[in-house]
Amino acid sequence: MSDQYVWLKGIPLPALTFIPEALREEWETFVFKDEDVVILTYPKSGTHWLIEILCLIFSKGDPKWIQSVPIWDRSPWVETESGYNSLKDKEGPRLISSHLPIQLIPKSLFSSKAKVIYLIRNPRDILVAGYFFYRISNFIKKPELLEEYFEWFIQGNVPYGSWFDHTHGWMSMKGKENFLILSYEELKRDRRSNTEKICQFLGKKLEPEELNSLLKNSSFQVMKENKMSNYSLLRGQYLDEKNGSILRKGISGDWKNYFTVAQAEAFDKIFQEKMADLPQELFPWE
Ligand code: A3P
Repeated sequence: MSDQYVWLKGIPLPALTFIPEALREEWETFVFKDEDVVILTYPKSGTHWLIEILCLIFSKGDPKWIQSVPIWDRSPWVETESGYNSLKDKEGPRLISSHLPIQLIPKSLFSSKAKVIYLIRNPRDILVAGYFFYRISNFIKKPELLEEYFEWFIQGNVPYGSWFDHTHGWMSMKGKENFLILSYEELKRDRRSNTEKICQFLGKKLEPEELNSLLKNSSFQVMKENKMSNYSLLRGQYLDEKNGSILRKGISGDWKNYFTVAQAEAFDKIFQEKMADLPQELFPWE
């Protein structure tokens, strides 16, 4: 796997997109500003869905922005070279995405009042989503069998390392005024009230028709057809989408269609061992 990753403080990061060595020192001093909104996720938690919702909040439900600018330019990834370069001199309130674990994020985040949203998801669904995604990606070693990827995931030998560590790390921010935790499952269950929760957190207000437009334009089907959000612009470059899509099924609980009984039991045991110290109500799928 080593040729697909750069390892930073023990965390495997995608070599193709992660900030190059020559820029790293400068990048570590990246300045988060008080008016920034930061979207933090472990990969495959529904990052792009949350970005779409935030863009639609910023544009007051008007879909022009999400239909004309690629999603990675609307909310650049701070850990990629292109994302960092576009963010560093950008004026005004910025939307910033990151998959980094807490110990790797540029330190200025902790002294800024930037609003941070951490989106979590059942790691079993993340595992299945990751398995299918890395099978169509050109920049991460492709797993052959789910059985094989299951082992990589448990060991944290996947992009951005262990889900268990990532979640523990960011959950240590729980309770801070500028830190909101959301879950994919709750968003799926009730997108309207969770969008209102995000608006309240950001101090923004949408009129009823703006909210309706947001809900329509951030649905799975509409996003799947939006070429600015479905990664079809990068087909062949990073992704071979003939055999799948980043917007795959968009449901909760799909893991039940793929895990064997033995895998489900093994995962339960590991989850209980590793996550017992956190309040279980943080995990609405358990
Ligand atoms: P599945 O592979 O389970 O379908 P990320 O954006 O972090 O890479 O996460 C990708 C996952 O989010 C995929 O999960 C994808 O289908 C799901 N997703 C993206 N947009 C969505 C939407 N509008 N509604 C529900 N799920 C969505």
